[in-house]
Amino acid sequence: MKGLILSGGKGTRLYPITYTSAKQLVPVANKPVLFRVIEAIRDAGITDIGIVVGDTAEEIKRAVGQGERWGVKVTYIRQEAPLGLAHAVKISQDYLGDERFVMFLGDNVIQGGISELIRQFAESDWNSQIVLKQVQHPQQYGIAQLDDQGRIVRLIEKPKEPPSDLALVGIYMFDHHVFEAVNAIEPSWRGELEITDAIQWLVEHGYAVYPYIHRGWWIDTGKMEDLLEANSLVLDELEHVIAGYVDKDSQINGKVTIEKGAEIINSRIRGPVIIGEDSRIVKSYVGPFTSIYHHVLIEESEIEHSIVMENSQILGIPHRIEDSLIGRNVVIQRSPIKPRAYKLTLGDNSRVGIL
Ligand code: G1P
Repeated sequence: MKGLILSGGKGTRLYPITYTSAKQLVPVANKPVLFRVIEAIRDAGITDIGIVVGDTAEEIKRAVGQGERWGVKVTYIRQEAPLGLAHAVKISQDYLGDERFVMFLGDNVIQGGISELIRQFAESDWNSQIVLKQVQHPQQYGIAQLDDQGRIVRLIEKPKEPPSDLALVGIYMFDHHVFEAVNAIEPSWRGELEITDAIQWLVEHGYAVYPYIHRGWWIDTGKMEDLLEANSLVLDELEHVIAGYVDKDSQINGKVTIEKGAEIINSRIRGPVIIGEDSRIVKSYVGPFTSIYHHVLIEESEIEHSIVMENSQILGIPHRIEDSLIGRNVVIQRSPIKPRAYKLTLGDNSRVGIL
């Protein structure tokens, strides 16, 4: 089997972070979501992986390379415009050939990996297997309607009046018959070739499509609240290790990872927390569900339930920072310059909550 990861798109719901960077590379518990996807596919025994890339192709290639780090072989497939998930399958036909494959959206995080699913599909003669999960807002997803025996009756993309609350998780398995489907369907109202419509086409044409209902958690990290939630869930499950330096005046409680080269000086860290390589936490408090990426400096400040990306600094902030996503190379500090005032340099679509 081959793997196909979709890593294009503009990530508009994560602006301004994604003005300058691919959404799939935002770190969750200090590891980009895309790396987690590659690992899930590799752990299922698949080593041939195609990555569909768009405007952020160069950044993705720089981060992933040829895949040696994971022992896989990566092939890049260029999608000229975000024309839909089924369009991505269409342009990947030469790469995929006649092999069965798993398609995984590069911004999805799933509990427990996909090894069991892949094994089931690889051993079957099914044409497709889809993964479903009960969700609270079915209008936001592709939705599956099943009959009493659990067979698929119908699939609809983002229905206004959903017939069920079973969403299509961003993981799909296909054989080569999917190419007939993606070539037969028409663009949806949003101008995209929807994978949901392609699967509906397979069902209508008598192909064997089986559902698998996922019981663990699953998060599409498209929005900031979802990213913070994914971060919390992964931090809670991580095997924590202290490889950095903690001085005797510091207190570490609960599940805490301190990566190598990191230093905790006269501070309190209450897990689940991860502090990245070569970061320094000085006279500060880092509270539950926080990921501090590498080369970050936090001094005389408090932070909780947040993600701080690489090379940023938080210095002498008197109030606790919470529920925040702080990008790369950001500096937050008190200004000594009079008159006392907020002095901000913020990109478009930034969001700041001030006391
Ligand atoms: C896409 C699919 C949708 C699926 C979702 C999962 O939606 O079209 O069927 O439920 O991914 O994340 P999109 O992210 O393009 O809105």
